[in-house]
Amino acid sequence: YRRLRVALLGAGAVGSQVADLLRKHGDELADRAGAALDIVGIAVRDLDAPRETDLPRELFTTDAAELILGADIVIELMGGIEPAREYILQALNSGADVVTANKALLATHGPEIFDAADQVGASVYYEAAAAGAIPIIRPLRDSLAGDRVQRIMGIVNGTTNYILDRMDREGSDFADVLADAQALGYAESDPTADIEGYDAAQKAAILASLAFHTAVPLEAVHREGITQIDKNVMDAARHAGFVIKLLAVCERIVGDDAAEPTGDAISVRVYPALVPREHPLASVHGANNAVFVQAEAAGNLMFYGAGAGGVQTASAVLGDVVSAARRHIAGGVGVGESTRANLPVLPIGRVTTRY
Ligand code: NDP
Ligand code: HSE
Repeated sequence: YRRLRVALLGAGAVGSQVADLLRKHGDELADRAGAALDIVGIAVRDLDAPRETDLPRELFTTDAAELILGADIVIELMGGIEPAREYILQALNSGADVVTANKALLATHGPEIFDAADQVGASVYYEAAAAGAIPIIRPLRDSLAGDRVQRIMGIVNGTTNYILDRMDREGSDFADVLADAQALGYAESDPTADIEGYDAAQKAAILASLAFHTAVPLEAVHREGITQIDKNVMDAARHAGFVIKLLAVCERIVGDDAAEPTGDAISVRVYPALVPREHPLASVHGANNAVFVQAEAAGNLMFYGAGAGGVQTASAVLGDVVSAARRHIAGGVGVGESTRANLPVLPIGRVTTRY
C-alpha cells in the first residue's frame, strides 16, 4: 500500500474515538481505502489533560500548524471558528484533503473554505457536520442531485432531543439532563449552541444549501431554542396529546407564495414545535435524530439514527477519511465533496425566511 499521512486536530469526544477506531480497524480501512492511514500526530490544547484513550503520548502536540505540514489528510475535530478556519485553509493550501465535523465553521465560512478547496483542487468532506452518524450530506448532495427537494423536516440536534425526551418521559429537570448530555459527549463545548438552537440552525443552513443548490446564510435562518420549555409547558403539551421537539424545517416556496417575480424562494427555520404523539418524530428518543426529505420524484424519504455521540459521529468521520484517501491516491481524481452544491443558484436576495 501507499501510506497516507493523517493529521488529527482535536482528541475530544469525537477525535479520540476517531483515533481509537482508526488504530483498531486500520488494516480493514486500508483495504477499503487502498492506502494505509497513518496518524502522524494529534493536536490538542492541553498535553496534560486526562484522556480516555491509550494512544501513545508521543503522538500528541500543541503545534497544529506544524502537524499539518506534509499531511495528506487533515481531520479537524477541534470545533469553533478560529483557529479551526485558519488550520483548514492552511491544510488545503498545502495540498491536503480535509475532513471536518465543524458545522459552526461551515455554516459561517463555508463559501470561503469551499472556494479555497476548489482553487487548489482539494476536497472538504463533512458528513459528520449534520445529524451525527446519519448519512444525510451525501444523499442530499449526490443521491438526490437529479431530483428537486421540496422540503426537509427533522430533529437535527441530539442534545436538545435528549433533554426534551427525558423531561417528557421522566419529568426530569432541564439543568440536570443538560449536565448528563454534556457528560455523555453530546453537547457542544458551549452548550448554549445546542439549547438556544444555534447548532440546529447551522445544520439547517448546511442541509438547505445542499438541498436547494444555493447559498443559505446563517442569518437567513429563523432560530428559537428550548430554554423557555419548562415542566409546566411539557405537562400542558402532554395533556393535549403532543410532545415538544426542536424541529428544523427547510422548504422550497414555489410560485405566488414565493413573493418573487420569477421563481422559487426558500424558508429555513428552527423552533420548538408541538408534535402529535402519533407522529413518527414523536418516537425519536434520546440523542437520536430523524430527517424527513420530500422530493418531487423520489417522494418521502426518512433518515434516522444517532445524532450525537463520540463513537457514533466517528463513524461518519471515518467514512469521509476513506473517501478522502481513495480520492487522494487517485491523484485528486474522482468524486470529491466539492462544494459545487454551494454555488449560488438562487441569489441571496431571494432567500426568504418565513415562520
Ligand atoms: P470536544 O470539545 O470534546 O473536543 C475538542 C478537542 O479539540 C479537544 O481535544 C481540544 O483539546 C481540541 N482543541 C480545541 N481547541 C484547540 C486548539 N485551539 N488547538 C488545539 N486543539 C484544540 O469536541 P467534540 O469532540 O465534541 O466535537 C468536535 C467537533 O465535532 C465539533 O466541531 C463539534 O461540533 C463536532 N461534532 C460533535 C459531535 C458530538 O456528538 N460531540 C457530533 C457531531 C459533530 P483538549 O483536549 O486539550 O482540550
Ligand atoms: N451538539 C450536537 C448535538 C452534536 O447535540 O446534536 C452533534 O452535531
